[in-house]
Amino acid sequence: MVPTAYLNGEFLPLSETRISVMDRGFLFGDGVYEVIPVYGGRLFRLEHHLKRLQNSLDAIRISNPLAPAEWHLMLTKLVESNDAEDQAVYLQVTRGVAEKRDHAFPADVTPTLFAMSTPMAESVDIDAIPGVSAVTLEDIRWNLCNVKAITLLPNVLLRQQAIDDGGTEAILIKNGLAIEGAASNVFIVSNGLLITPPNGPSLLPGITRDLVIELAANHAIPFREADITEQQLFNAEEIWLTSSTREISPVIQLNDRVISAGKPGPLWRRMINLYQDHKMAIRKGEAS
Ligand SMILES: Cc1ncc(COP(=O)(O)O)c(C=O)c1O
Repeated sequence: MVPTAYLNGEFLPLSETRISVMDRGFLFGDGVYEVIPVYGGRLFRLEHHLKRLQNSLDAIRISNPLAPAEWHLMLTKLVESNDAEDQAVYLQVTRGVAEKRDHAFPADVTPTLFAMSTPMAESVDIDAIPGVSAVTLEDIRWNLCNVKAITLLPNVLLRQQAIDDGGTEAILIKNGLAIEGAASNVFIVSNGLLITPPNGPSLLPGITRDLVIELAANHAIPFREADITEQQLFNAEEIWLTSSTREISPVIQLNDRVISAGKPGPLWRRMINLYQDHKMAIRKGEAS
């Protein structure tokens, strides 16, 4: 069945969505996006995603095309129009279609709003998660990485380089510090302490990252937001990568080095169980 998508006020089959080649998203990558997981038909942390979207829109000076209640309505309808209990909703706002190609903002342009949803696998067998390998690469991105911009070419090149090098994700190094993954945030366990870099312009304020921090705080897991040096990364007892679609992914190999004896570590196991419990609560409507 063709998934249902949303484009500029209309719900229609994804295969029938069309935009102009003059859209500034196409010509300049001039837009921002969000990816929101759906568990049991319920949107995960929708308020947090809408807040981050607003911050991204403000940063690139696009006015929000929908009010919060309209976002709720549209996204709920999109989820209901697609069958799966668990889904990943992708939404994108671009500056819109201009008459001519010019770097400067066009006057009186209407933002383009597109959203689609893809099914996600429902059950997670924690014991069957083998762990992933990652490679360190120099961070070649810009200075506004807190903006969730659709201009993802550096991230695309970095992820592909990681795959070409035999890994599944790149951990990006800037000025000797581990910043985040090409499409994920990074955590380490060092001397029993869980550490992730503080938010700022170098990295995306991940929604999954925030939930992991909340769960650590609520369950007395020793935790700190602090810089992670490259050396700390390589000497870590555990390394995790977090994102909405991959949840909490344990790294068991970094470049040529085996991490946490080549299997997911004990603190990861504790955290992924807390995370799955939280998802279960969302499914029952007891958490967001
Ligand atoms: C660069 C980058 N960092 C971090 C994340 C994780 O963010 P979230 O947990 O909100 O999915 C992503 C997700 O796509 C990302 O692209």
